[in-house]
Amino acid sequence: MKEKLDELLELRAQARLGGGQERIDKLHASGRYTARERIDMLLDEGSFEEFDMFKTHRCTNFGMQKKIFLGDGVVTGHGTVAGRLVYVFAQDFTVLGGSLSETISEKICKIMDMAIKNGAPVVGLNDSGGARIQEGIESLAGYSEIFLRNVMASGVVPQISAIFGPCAGGAVYSPALTDFAIMVKNNSYMFLTGPKVVKSVTHEDVTVEQLGGAEVHATKSGVADYAAESGVDAVEYVKRLLSFLPQNNVELPPALACSDSPDRRNEYLNEIIPDNPNKAYDMKEVICGTVDDGDFFELKASFAPNLIVGFGRYNGQTVGIVANQPNCLSGVLDCDSSVKGARFVRFCDCFNIPVVTFVDVPGFLPGTAQEYAGVIRHGAKILYAYAEATVPKVTVVTRKAYGGAYCVMSSKHLRGDINYAWPMAEIAVMGAKGAVEVLFGKEARKSADPQKFLAEKEREYSEEFANPYAAAKRGYVDDIIEPARTRIRIVKALGMLKHKRDTNPMKKHGNIPL
Ligand code: HXC
Repeated sequence: MKEKLDELLELRAQARLGGGQERIDKLHASGRYTARERIDMLLDEGSFEEFDMFKTHRCTNFGMQKKIFLGDGVVTGHGTVAGRLVYVFAQDFTVLGGSLSETISEKICKIMDMAIKNGAPVVGLNDSGGARIQEGIESLAGYSEIFLRNVMASGVVPQISAIFGPCAGGAVYSPALTDFAIMVKNNSYMFLTGPKVVKSVTHEDVTVEQLGGAEVHATKSGVADYAAESGVDAVEYVKRLLSFLPQNNVELPPALACSDSPDRRNEYLNEIIPDNPNKAYDMKEVICGTVDDGDFFELKASFAPNLIVGFGRYNGQTVGIVANQPNCLSGVLDCDSSVKGARFVRFCDCFNIPVVTFVDVPGFLPGTAQEYAGVIRHGAKILYAYAEATVPKVTVVTRKAYGGAYCVMSSKHLRGDINYAWPMAEIAVMGAKGAVEVLFGKEARKSADPQKFLAEKEREYSEEFANPYAAAKRGYVDDIIEPARTRIRIVKALGMLKHKRDTNPMKKHGNIPL
Protein backbone atom coordinates (compact mmCIF):
# COMPACT_ATOMS: atom_id res chain seq x y z
CA MET A 1 0.00 0.00 0.00
CA LYS A 2 2.73 2.44 1.01
CA GLU A 3 4.64 1.89 -2.23
CA LYS A 4 1.50 2.61 -4.25
CA LEU A 5 0.94 5.83 -2.33
CA ASP A 6 4.56 6.83 -2.76
CA GLU A 7 4.31 6.09 -6.46
CA LEU A 8 1.23 8.30 -6.74
CA LEU A 9 2.95 11.13 -4.89
CA GLU A 10 5.98 10.84 -7.11
CA LEU A 11 3.92 10.87 -10.28
CA ARG A 12 2.00 13.91 -9.05
CA ALA A 13 5.24 15.72 -8.27
CA GLN A 14 6.52 14.82 -11.74
CA ALA A 15 3.33 16.11 -13.40
CA ARG A 16 3.55 19.35 -11.43
CA LEU A 17 6.98 19.99 -12.91
CA GLY A 18 5.55 20.05 -16.45
CA GLY A 19 8.46 20.29 -18.89
CA GLY A 20 11.03 20.34 -16.07
CA GLN A 21 12.77 22.80 -13.76
CA GLU A 22 15.10 24.11 -16.45
CA ARG A 23 12.22 25.21 -18.64
CA ILE A 24 10.38 26.64 -15.63
CA ASP A 25 13.46 28.74 -14.82
CA LYS A 26 13.60 29.93 -18.43
CA LEU A 27 9.95 30.92 -18.29
CA HIS A 28 10.46 32.82 -15.04
CA ALA A 29 13.49 34.54 -16.57
CA SER A 30 11.25 35.80 -19.39
CA GLY A 31 8.97 37.42 -16.79
CA ARG A 32 6.24 34.81 -17.10
CA TYR A 33 4.59 32.47 -14.61
CA THR A 34 3.93 28.77 -15.04
CA ALA A 35 0.46 27.41 -15.79
CA ARG A 36 0.09 26.19 -12.20
CA GLU A 37 1.24 29.49 -10.72
CA ARG A 38 -1.39 31.29 -12.82
CA ILE A 39 -4.09 28.91 -11.64
CA ASP A 40 -3.00 29.45 -8.03
CA MET A 41 -3.23 33.22 -8.51
CA LEU A 42 -6.71 32.93 -9.99
CA LEU A 43 -8.46 30.46 -7.73
CA ASP A 44 -9.34 30.59 -4.03
CA GLU A 45 -6.62 28.88 -2.04
CA GLY A 46 -6.98 25.11 -1.95
CA SER A 47 -10.04 25.09 -4.22
CA PHE A 48 -8.42 23.64 -7.35
CA GLU A 49 -9.52 20.15 -8.37
CA GLU A 50 -7.40 18.91 -11.25
CA PHE A 51 -8.43 16.50 -14.00
CA ASP A 52 -6.36 14.34 -16.34
CA MET A 53 -3.06 14.90 -14.62
CA PHE A 54 -1.78 11.60 -15.99
CA LYS A 55 -3.01 11.99 -19.53
CA THR A 56 -0.26 11.89 -22.18
CA HIS A 57 -0.12 12.38 -25.93
CA ARG A 58 -0.27 9.42 -28.33
CA CYS A 59 1.91 10.84 -31.07
CA THR A 60 4.71 8.67 -32.45
CA ASN A 61 5.94 10.94 -35.24
CA PHE A 62 9.43 12.48 -35.11
CA GLY A 63 10.47 10.51 -32.01
CA MET A 64 7.65 11.94 -29.95
CA GLN A 65 7.40 8.72 -27.92
CA LYS A 66 10.53 9.97 -26.14
CA LYS A 67 8.94 13.32 -25.31
CA ILE A 68 6.15 12.28 -22.96
CA PHE A 69 5.11 14.62 -20.15
CA LEU A 70 2.41 13.76 -17.61
CA GLY A 71 -0.66 15.89 -18.24
CA ASP A 72 0.80 16.96 -21.60
CA GLY A 73 0.92 20.73 -22.14
CA VAL A 74 -2.15 21.90 -20.24
CA VAL A 75 -3.45 21.93 -16.67
CA THR A 76 -7.24 21.64 -16.40
CA GLY A 77 -9.88 21.45 -13.71
CA HIS A 78 -12.22 23.55 -11.61
CA GLY A 79 -12.09 25.66 -8.51
CA THR A 80 -13.65 28.77 -7.06
CA VAL A 81 -13.10 32.49 -7.40
CA ALA A 82 -14.57 34.38 -4.43
CA GLY A 83 -16.44 31.20 -3.58
CA ARG A 84 -18.02 30.77 -7.03
CA LEU A 85 -17.33 27.82 -9.32
CA VAL A 86 -15.19 28.33 -12.43
CA TYR A 87 -13.65 25.89 -14.88
CA VAL A 88 -10.11 26.64 -15.87
CA PHE A 89 -7.45 25.50 -18.28
CA ALA A 90 -3.88 26.81 -18.33
CA GLN A 91 -1.54 26.02 -21.20
CA ASP A 92 1.89 24.94 -20.02
CA PHE A 93 4.60 26.53 -22.15
CA THR A 94 7.27 24.38 -20.50
CA VAL A 95 5.86 21.32 -22.30
CA LEU A 96 6.71 21.59 -26.00
CA GLY A 97 5.92 25.30 -25.96
CA GLY A 98 2.35 24.64 -24.78
CA SER A 99 1.68 23.45 -28.32
CA LEU A 100 -1.77 21.95 -28.77
CA SER A 101 -2.02 18.20 -29.21
CA GLU A 102 -5.08 16.05 -29.72
CA THR A 103 -4.80 15.06 -26.04
CA ILE A 104 -4.66 18.66 -24.85
CA SER A 105 -7.75 19.41 -26.87
CA GLU A 106 -9.54 16.49 -25.20
CA LYS A 107 -8.60 17.85 -21.78
CA ILE A 108 -9.82 21.36 -22.61
CA CYS A 109 -13.02 20.07 -24.23
CA LYS A 110 -13.78 17.97 -21.16
CA ILE A 111 -13.91 20.98 -18.87
CA MET A 112 -15.79 23.07 -21.44
CA ASP A 113 -18.45 20.36 -21.68
CA MET A 114 -18.69 20.29 -17.90
CA ALA A 115 -18.96 24.07 -17.76
CA ILE A 116 -21.88 24.04 -20.19
CA LYS A 117 -23.61 21.18 -18.36
CA ASN A 118 -23.08 22.60 -14.89
CA GLY A 119 -23.49 26.27 -15.74
CA ALA A 120 -20.23 27.96 -14.71
CA PRO A 121 -17.75 30.26 -16.48
CA VAL A 122 -14.70 28.99 -18.34
CA VAL A 123 -11.41 30.82 -17.93
CA GLY A 124 -8.65 29.95 -20.40
CA LEU A 125 -5.08 30.93 -19.50
CA ASN A 126 -3.26 30.86 -22.84
CA ASP A 127 0.46 30.52 -23.50
CA SER A 128 1.11 28.32 -26.50
CA GLY A 129 3.15 27.94 -29.68
CA GLY A 130 -0.02 26.85 -31.50
CA ALA A 131 -0.77 23.59 -33.26
CA ARG A 132 1.69 20.84 -32.27
CA ILE A 133 3.58 20.51 -35.48
CA GLN A 134 4.47 16.83 -34.96
CA GLU A 135 0.77 15.90 -34.79
CA GLY A 136 -0.30 17.70 -37.92
CA ILE A 137 -3.97 17.29 -38.73
CA GLU A 138 -4.82 15.77 -35.35
CA SER A 139 -3.85 19.03 -33.72
CA LEU A 140 -6.00 20.99 -36.17
CA ALA A 141 -8.91 18.67 -35.40
CA GLY A 142 -8.27 19.35 -31.72
CA TYR A 143 -8.48 23.11 -32.26
CA SER A 144 -11.69 22.71 -34.21
CA GLU A 145 -13.25 20.73 -31.34
CA ILE A 146 -12.42 23.62 -29.01
CA PHE A 147 -13.83 26.20 -31.44
CA LEU A 148 -17.06 24.23 -31.64
CA ARG A 149 -17.39 24.26 -27.87
CA ASN A 150 -16.58 27.99 -27.74
CA VAL A 151 -19.54 28.53 -30.03
CA MET A 152 -21.83 26.14 -28.17
CA ALA A 153 -20.93 27.76 -24.84
CA SER A 154 -21.46 31.27 -26.23
CA GLY A 155 -24.43 32.83 -24.47
CA VAL A 156 -24.68 29.86 -22.08
CA VAL A 157 -21.74 30.49 -19.74
CA PRO A 158 -19.33 33.43 -19.69
CA GLN A 159 -16.00 32.64 -21.37
CA ILE A 160 -12.86 34.59 -20.58
CA SER A 161 -9.41 34.28 -22.17
CA ALA A 162 -6.21 35.66 -20.74
CA ILE A 163 -3.16 35.56 -22.99
CA PHE A 164 0.22 35.46 -21.28
CA GLY A 165 2.52 34.41 -24.13
CA PRO A 166 2.28 33.47 -27.78
CA CYS A 167 -1.08 32.86 -29.41
CA ALA A 168 -0.61 32.60 -33.15
CA GLY A 169 -2.19 31.23 -36.29
CA GLY A 170 -5.67 29.77 -36.18
CA ALA A 171 -5.21 29.37 -32.43
CA VAL A 172 -6.27 32.99 -32.02
CA TYR A 173 -9.81 32.05 -32.88
CA SER A 174 -10.55 30.44 -29.55
CA PRO A 175 -9.85 33.63 -27.56
CA ALA A 176 -11.60 35.60 -30.31
CA LEU A 177 -14.73 33.49 -29.82
CA THR A 178 -14.78 34.01 -26.06
CA ASP A 179 -16.58 36.94 -24.45
CA PHE A 180 -13.51 38.71 -23.11
CA ALA A 181 -9.79 38.65 -23.91
CA ILE A 182 -7.08 40.07 -21.66
CA MET A 183 -3.46 40.35 -22.80
CA VAL A 184 -0.23 41.05 -20.94
CA LYS A 185 1.94 43.92 -22.19
CA ASN A 186 5.37 42.98 -23.59
CA ASN A 187 4.90 39.22 -23.06
CA SER A 188 1.86 38.22 -25.07
CA TYR A 189 0.99 38.52 -28.72
CA MET A 190 -1.76 37.40 -31.04
CA PHE A 191 -1.63 37.30 -34.84
CA LEU A 192 -2.70 35.08 -37.68
CA THR A 193 0.67 35.26 -39.45
CA GLY A 194 3.95 36.18 -37.80
CA PRO A 195 6.46 38.89 -38.80
CA LYS A 196 8.43 36.59 -41.14
CA VAL A 197 5.41 35.68 -43.26
CA VAL A 198 4.27 39.29 -43.20
CA LYS A 199 7.67 40.36 -44.52
CA SER A 200 7.59 37.85 -47.37
CA VAL A 201 4.02 38.66 -48.40
CA THR A 202 3.66 42.41 -47.85
CA HIS A 203 7.35 43.40 -47.41
CA GLU A 204 6.45 45.11 -44.14
CA ASP A 205 9.08 45.14 -41.40
CA VAL A 206 7.22 44.70 -38.19
CA THR A 207 8.06 43.41 -34.73
CA VAL A 208 5.98 40.89 -32.84
CA GLU A 209 4.84 43.65 -30.48
CA GLN A 210 3.90 46.02 -33.31
CA LEU A 211 2.03 43.28 -35.13
CA GLY A 212 0.01 41.75 -32.31
CA GLY A 213 1.11 42.97 -28.88
CA ALA A 214 -1.29 43.77 -26.07
CA GLU A 215 -1.29 47.52 -26.77
CA VAL A 216 -2.09 46.96 -30.43
CA HIS A 217 -5.08 44.75 -29.68
CA ALA A 218 -6.32 46.97 -26.85
CA THR A 219 -6.18 50.16 -28.93
CA LYS A 220 -6.28 49.40 -32.67
CA SER A 221 -7.97 46.07 -33.38
CA GLY A 222 -10.29 45.83 -30.37
CA VAL A 223 -9.43 42.14 -29.93
CA ALA A 224 -8.32 42.69 -26.33
CA ASP A 225 -10.49 44.15 -23.58
CA TYR A 226 -7.51 45.06 -21.46
CA ALA A 227 -3.72 45.33 -21.80
CA ALA A 228 -2.46 44.22 -18.41
CA GLU A 229 0.77 45.54 -16.93
CA SER A 230 1.80 42.05 -15.77
CA GLY A 231 0.58 38.49 -15.41
CA VAL A 232 -0.62 39.30 -11.89
CA ASP A 233 -2.53 42.33 -13.14
CA ALA A 234 -4.19 40.19 -15.84
CA VAL A 235 -5.37 37.63 -13.30
CA GLU A 236 -6.69 40.35 -10.97
CA TYR A 237 -8.63 41.83 -13.89
CA VAL A 238 -10.19 38.44 -14.65
CA LYS A 239 -11.26 38.05 -11.01
CA ARG A 240 -12.85 41.48 -10.89
CA LEU A 241 -14.62 40.84 -14.18
CA LEU A 242 -16.06 37.59 -12.83
CA SER A 243 -17.42 39.42 -9.78
CA PHE A 244 -19.91 41.26 -12.01
CA LEU A 245 -21.11 38.24 -13.96
CA PRO A 246 -23.74 35.59 -13.40
CA GLN A 247 -22.60 31.98 -13.59
CA ASN A 248 -24.73 31.23 -16.65
CA ASN A 249 -27.60 32.42 -18.82
CA VAL A 250 -30.38 31.27 -16.49
CA GLU A 251 -28.99 33.01 -13.43
CA LEU A 252 -29.18 36.65 -12.48
CA PRO A 253 -25.89 38.45 -11.87
CA PRO A 254 -24.76 38.42 -8.24
CA ALA A 255 -26.27 41.16 -6.05
CA LEU A 256 -23.91 42.64 -3.46
CA ALA A 257 -24.81 44.31 -0.19
CA CYS A 258 -24.70 48.03 -0.96
CA SER A 259 -23.51 50.68 1.46
CA ASP A 260 -23.98 53.55 -1.01
CA SER A 261 -27.45 55.04 -0.43
CA PRO A 262 -29.89 54.59 -3.32
CA ASP A 263 -31.13 58.09 -2.39
CA ARG A 264 -27.76 59.74 -2.84
CA ARG A 265 -27.90 63.01 -4.76
CA ASN A 266 -24.91 64.28 -6.72
CA GLU A 267 -25.04 68.08 -6.92
CA TYR A 268 -22.04 68.23 -9.25
CA LEU A 269 -24.12 66.70 -12.04
CA ASN A 270 -26.31 69.82 -12.03
CA GLU A 271 -23.26 71.76 -13.22
CA ILE A 272 -21.37 69.28 -15.37
CA ILE A 273 -22.85 70.27 -18.74
CA PRO A 274 -20.98 73.31 -20.13
CA ASP A 275 -23.03 76.32 -21.24
CA ASN A 276 -21.46 76.05 -24.68
CA PRO A 277 -23.05 72.99 -26.34
CA ASN A 278 -19.87 72.43 -28.34
CA LYS A 279 -17.71 72.12 -25.24
CA ALA A 280 -16.76 68.69 -23.98
CA TYR A 281 -17.07 67.15 -20.53
CA ASP A 282 -16.12 63.75 -19.18
CA MET A 283 -18.98 61.24 -19.29
CA LYS A 284 -17.01 59.01 -16.92
CA GLU A 285 -17.74 61.60 -14.22
CA VAL A 286 -21.45 61.07 -14.85
CA ILE A 287 -21.07 57.29 -14.69
CA CYS A 288 -18.86 57.29 -11.60
CA GLY A 289 -21.06 59.95 -10.03
CA THR A 290 -24.09 57.69 -10.16
CA VAL A 291 -22.94 54.04 -9.73
CA ASP A 292 -22.42 52.45 -6.30
CA ASP A 293 -19.32 53.88 -4.61
CA GLY A 294 -18.17 55.44 -7.89
CA ASP A 295 -16.92 52.00 -8.89
CA PHE A 296 -16.93 51.55 -12.67
CA PHE A 297 -15.16 48.62 -14.34
CA GLU A 298 -14.36 49.69 -17.88
CA LEU A 299 -13.77 47.33 -20.81
CA LYS A 300 -11.92 48.19 -24.01
CA ALA A 301 -11.05 51.58 -22.51
CA SER A 302 -8.46 52.41 -25.17
CA PHE A 303 -10.34 51.10 -28.21
CA ALA A 304 -12.93 53.47 -29.73
CA PRO A 305 -12.92 55.63 -26.58
CA ASN A 306 -15.71 57.77 -28.05
CA LEU A 307 -18.01 55.08 -26.65
CA ILE A 308 -17.58 53.85 -23.09
CA VAL A 309 -18.65 50.34 -22.06
CA GLY A 310 -18.24 48.51 -18.78
CA PHE A 311 -19.86 47.19 -15.64
CA GLY A 312 -21.04 48.96 -12.53
CA ARG A 313 -23.67 48.41 -9.86
CA TYR A 314 -26.76 50.27 -8.78
CA ASN A 315 -27.95 49.35 -5.30
CA GLY A 316 -25.74 46.26 -5.42
CA GLN A 317 -27.08 45.01 -8.76
CA THR A 318 -24.73 44.54 -11.74
CA VAL A 319 -25.55 46.60 -14.82
CA GLY A 320 -23.83 47.02 -18.17
CA ILE A 321 -23.15 50.67 -18.91
CA VAL A 322 -22.89 52.12 -22.41
CA ALA A 323 -22.17 55.82 -22.81
CA ASN A 324 -21.10 58.26 -25.47
CA GLN A 325 -17.94 60.14 -24.46
CA PRO A 326 -18.16 63.84 -25.42
CA ASN A 327 -14.48 64.15 -24.45
CA CYS A 328 -13.48 62.06 -27.46
CA LEU A 329 -14.57 62.95 -31.01
CA SER A 330 -17.56 64.73 -29.38
CA GLY A 331 -18.97 61.29 -28.56
CA VAL A 332 -19.76 60.59 -32.20
CA LEU A 333 -20.65 57.04 -33.27
CA ASP A 334 -18.39 55.44 -35.87
CA CYS A 335 -17.56 51.94 -37.14
CA ASP A 336 -15.43 50.82 -34.20
CA SER A 337 -17.58 52.29 -31.45
CA SER A 338 -20.70 50.76 -33.01
CA VAL A 339 -19.17 47.29 -33.02
CA LYS A 340 -17.83 47.78 -29.50
CA GLY A 341 -21.25 48.81 -28.20
CA ALA A 342 -23.14 46.12 -30.08
CA ARG A 343 -21.01 43.28 -28.78
CA PHE A 344 -21.25 44.55 -25.22
CA VAL A 345 -25.04 45.00 -25.30
CA ARG A 346 -25.39 41.48 -26.73
CA PHE A 347 -23.22 40.07 -23.94
CA CYS A 348 -25.40 41.78 -21.33
CA ASP A 349 -28.55 40.49 -23.00
CA CYS A 350 -27.20 36.91 -23.06
CA PHE A 351 -26.55 37.03 -19.35
CA ASN A 352 -29.53 38.91 -17.91
CA ILE A 353 -27.56 42.04 -17.16
CA PRO A 354 -29.64 45.26 -17.41
CA VAL A 355 -28.22 47.94 -19.67
CA VAL A 356 -27.98 51.57 -18.58
CA THR A 357 -27.18 53.97 -21.41
CA PHE A 358 -25.99 57.57 -21.11
CA VAL A 359 -26.50 59.49 -24.33
CA ASP A 360 -24.66 62.54 -25.61
CA VAL A 361 -24.17 61.90 -29.30
CA PRO A 362 -24.03 64.39 -32.16
CA GLY A 363 -24.62 61.65 -34.75
CA PHE A 364 -22.61 59.23 -36.86
CA LEU A 365 -19.18 60.33 -38.06
CA PRO A 366 -19.45 61.65 -41.64
CA GLY A 367 -16.93 61.21 -44.43
CA THR A 368 -15.61 58.84 -47.04
CA ALA A 369 -13.33 57.03 -44.60
CA GLN A 370 -16.29 55.93 -42.51
CA GLU A 371 -18.64 55.28 -45.40
CA TYR A 372 -16.05 53.14 -47.19
CA ALA A 373 -15.31 51.31 -43.95
CA GLY A 374 -18.97 50.37 -43.76
CA VAL A 375 -20.42 52.66 -41.11
CA ILE A 376 -23.88 51.71 -42.42
CA ARG A 377 -23.20 48.03 -41.77
CA HIS A 378 -21.50 48.62 -38.44
CA GLY A 379 -23.95 51.23 -37.19
CA ALA A 380 -26.72 48.74 -37.89
CA LYS A 381 -25.10 46.34 -35.43
CA ILE A 382 -25.54 48.53 -32.38
CA LEU A 383 -29.08 49.36 -33.48
CA TYR A 384 -29.81 45.66 -33.89
CA ALA A 385 -28.27 44.79 -30.53
CA TYR A 386 -30.35 47.33 -28.62
CA ALA A 387 -33.53 46.43 -30.48
CA GLU A 388 -33.29 42.68 -29.86
CA ALA A 389 -32.19 42.99 -26.21
CA THR A 390 -34.91 41.97 -23.78
CA VAL A 391 -33.10 42.82 -20.55
CA PRO A 392 -34.16 45.97 -18.66
CA LYS A 393 -32.97 49.03 -20.55
CA VAL A 394 -32.71 52.42 -18.82
CA THR A 395 -31.53 55.43 -20.81
CA VAL A 396 -30.52 58.93 -19.76
CA VAL A 397 -30.00 61.61 -22.40
CA THR A 398 -27.60 64.07 -20.81
CA ARG A 399 -27.22 66.42 -23.76
CA LYS A 400 -27.29 65.71 -27.50
CA ALA A 401 -29.32 62.95 -29.07
CA TYR A 402 -29.33 63.75 -32.75
CA GLY A 403 -30.61 61.97 -35.80
CA GLY A 404 -29.99 58.28 -36.39
CA ALA A 405 -27.77 58.19 -33.33
CA TYR A 406 -30.80 59.18 -31.20
CA CYS A 407 -32.76 56.21 -32.57
CA VAL A 408 -29.86 53.81 -32.05
CA MET A 409 -28.85 54.67 -28.49
CA SER A 410 -31.51 52.64 -26.67
CA SER A 411 -34.35 54.93 -27.63
CA LYS A 412 -37.92 54.23 -26.57
CA HIS A 413 -38.61 53.10 -30.12
CA LEU A 414 -36.12 50.23 -29.76
CA ARG A 415 -37.90 49.02 -26.62
CA GLY A 416 -36.04 51.21 -24.16
CA ASP A 417 -37.98 50.64 -20.94
CA ILE A 418 -37.33 53.87 -19.09
CA ASN A 419 -35.93 56.86 -20.93
CA TYR A 420 -35.02 60.02 -19.06
CA ALA A 421 -33.57 63.29 -20.26
CA TRP A 422 -31.76 66.02 -18.41
CA PRO A 423 -33.19 69.54 -18.90
CA MET A 424 -30.20 70.49 -21.08
CA ALA A 425 -30.93 67.63 -23.51
CA GLU A 426 -31.26 68.39 -27.20
CA ILE A 427 -33.30 65.67 -28.89
CA ALA A 428 -33.58 66.58 -32.55
CA VAL A 429 -32.92 65.49 -36.12
CA MET A 430 -29.65 67.37 -36.18
CA GLY A 431 -27.71 70.20 -34.56
CA ALA A 432 -28.79 73.81 -35.13
CA LYS A 433 -25.85 74.77 -37.36
CA GLY A 434 -26.34 71.93 -39.83
CA ALA A 435 -30.12 72.25 -39.79
CA VAL A 436 -30.28 75.96 -40.65
CA GLU A 437 -27.67 75.53 -43.37
CA VAL A 438 -29.92 72.96 -45.05
CA LEU A 439 -33.15 74.86 -44.48
CA PHE A 440 -32.02 78.47 -44.91
CA GLY A 441 -28.64 78.37 -46.65
CA LYS A 442 -29.91 79.69 -50.00
CA GLU A 443 -32.04 82.37 -48.33
CA ALA A 444 -29.11 83.42 -46.17
CA ARG A 445 -26.81 83.92 -49.16
CA LYS A 446 -29.41 86.27 -50.71
CA SER A 447 -29.75 88.31 -47.49
CA ALA A 448 -27.76 91.46 -46.69
CA ASP A 449 -25.90 89.83 -43.81
CA PRO A 450 -25.87 86.02 -44.28
CA GLN A 451 -24.06 85.35 -40.99
CA LYS A 452 -26.51 87.40 -38.94
CA PHE A 453 -29.41 85.78 -40.78
CA LEU A 454 -28.15 82.26 -40.04
CA ALA A 455 -27.37 83.12 -36.42
CA GLU A 456 -30.95 84.31 -35.93
CA LYS A 457 -32.31 81.12 -37.55
CA GLU A 458 -30.01 79.03 -35.38
CA ARG A 459 -31.40 80.72 -32.27
CA GLU A 460 -34.98 80.06 -33.48
CA TYR A 461 -34.14 76.42 -34.26
CA SER A 462 -32.47 75.88 -30.89
CA GLU A 463 -35.45 77.33 -29.05
CA GLU A 464 -37.84 75.12 -30.97
CA PHE A 465 -35.86 71.86 -31.14
CA ALA A 466 -32.75 71.89 -28.92
CA ASN A 467 -34.58 70.74 -25.82
CA PRO A 468 -36.11 67.57 -24.42
CA TYR A 469 -39.70 68.81 -24.31
CA ALA A 470 -40.74 67.87 -27.86
CA ALA A 471 -39.73 64.27 -27.04
CA ALA A 472 -41.38 64.42 -23.60
CA LYS A 473 -44.65 65.69 -25.08
CA ARG A 474 -44.82 62.55 -27.20
CA GLY A 475 -43.75 60.18 -24.41
CA TYR A 476 -40.46 59.40 -26.14
CA VAL A 477 -38.83 60.29 -22.85
CA ASP A 478 -40.67 59.29 -19.70
CA ASP A 479 -39.52 62.25 -17.64
CA ILE A 480 -37.15 65.17 -17.60
CA ILE A 481 -35.10 64.76 -14.47
CA GLU A 482 -32.81 66.83 -12.28
CA PRO A 483 -29.26 65.62 -13.03
CA ALA A 484 -28.41 65.50 -9.30
CA ARG A 485 -31.14 62.87 -8.86
CA THR A 486 -29.97 60.60 -11.70
CA ARG A 487 -28.76 57.80 -9.42
CA ILE A 488 -32.01 57.87 -7.47
CA ARG A 489 -34.09 57.62 -10.64
CA ILE A 490 -31.97 54.87 -12.19
CA VAL A 491 -32.09 52.78 -9.01
CA LYS A 492 -35.88 53.12 -8.90
CA ALA A 493 -36.25 52.29 -12.59
CA LEU A 494 -34.08 49.17 -12.27
CA GLY A 495 -36.02 48.10 -9.18
CA MET A 496 -39.30 48.47 -11.07
CA LEU A 497 -37.89 46.45 -13.99
CA LYS A 498 -36.42 43.69 -11.86
CA HIS A 499 -38.91 41.07 -13.00
CA LYS A 500 -39.25 42.32 -16.57
CA ARG A 501 -40.26 39.69 -19.10
CA ASP A 502 -40.01 40.35 -22.79
CA THR A 503 -39.56 38.08 -25.76
CA ASN A 504 -38.68 38.19 -29.43
CA PRO A 505 -40.62 36.35 -32.15
CA MET A 506 -39.79 32.64 -32.49
CA LYS A 507 -36.90 32.15 -34.87
CA LYS A 508 -33.83 29.99 -35.30
CA HIS A 509 -31.67 33.07 -34.90
CA GLY A 510 -31.71 36.57 -36.26
CA ASN A 511 -29.38 37.78 -38.98
CA ILE A 512 -27.45 40.60 -37.33
CA PRO A 513 -25.64 42.61 -40.06
CA LEU A 514 -22.12 41.27 -39.53
C1 HXC B 1 5.65 21.72 -31.43
C2 HXC B 1 6.66 23.52 -30.47
C3 HXC B 1 5.76 24.39 -31.12
C4 HXC B 1 4.78 23.82 -31.97
C5 HXC B 1 7.10 25.57 -29.94
N1 HXC B 1 7.45 24.29 -29.75
N2 HXC B 1 6.07 25.65 -30.78
N3 HXC B 1 6.60 22.20 -30.62
N4 HXC B 1 4.77 22.47 -32.09
N5 HXC B 1 3.89 24.58 -32.60
C6 HXC B 1 8.54 23.79 -28.92
C7 HXC B 1 9.90 24.15 -29.44
O1 HXC B 1 10.34 23.21 -30.38
C8 HXC B 1 10.72 24.10 -28.15
O2 HXC B 1 10.99 22.76 -27.84
C9 HXC B 1 9.78 24.60 -27.11
O3 HXC B 1 8.45 24.44 -27.67
C10 HXC B 1 9.93 26.05 -26.78
O4 HXC B 1 9.98 26.77 -27.99
P1 HXC B 1 11.12 27.85 -28.31
O5 HXC B 1 11.09 28.11 -29.75
O6 HXC B 1 12.41 27.39 -27.73
O7 HXC B 1 10.61 29.09 -27.46
P2 HXC B 1 10.64 30.61 -27.84
O8 HXC B 1 12.01 31.01 -28.32
O9 HXC B 1 10.10 31.33 -26.66
O10 HXC B 1 9.64 30.78 -29.06
C11 HXC B 1 8.29 30.50 -28.93
C12 HXC B 1 7.55 30.52 -30.29
C13 HXC B 1 8.29 29.56 -31.27
C14 HXC B 1 7.60 31.93 -30.85
C15 HXC B 1 6.12 30.11 -30.03
O11 HXC B 1 8.49 28.32 -30.63
C16 HXC B 1 7.51 29.32 -32.52
O12 HXC B 1 7.57 30.15 -33.44
N6 HXC B 1 6.82 28.20 -32.59
C17 HXC B 1 6.07 27.83 -33.77
C18 HXC B 1 4.83 28.65 -33.85
C19 HXC B 1 3.95 28.19 -34.94
O13 HXC B 1 4.24 28.47 -36.13
N7 HXC B 1 2.89 27.46 -34.60
C20 HXC B 1 2.00 26.90 -35.54
C21 HXC B 1 1.00 28.04 -35.82
S1 HXC B 1 -0.23 27.53 -36.90
P3 HXC B 1 12.35 22.31 -27.14
O14 HXC B 1 12.21 20.84 -26.97
O15 HXC B 1 13.43 22.73 -28.07
O16 HXC B 1 12.42 23.05 -25.83
C22 HXC B 1 -1.38 27.01 -35.88
C23 HXC B 1 -2.55 26.48 -36.61
C24 HXC B 1 -3.71 26.41 -35.70
O17 HXC B 1 -1.27 27.04 -34.74
C25 HXC B 1 -4.88 26.20 -36.57
C26 HXC B 1 -6.13 26.09 -35.77
C27 HXC B 1 -7.30 26.05 -36.71
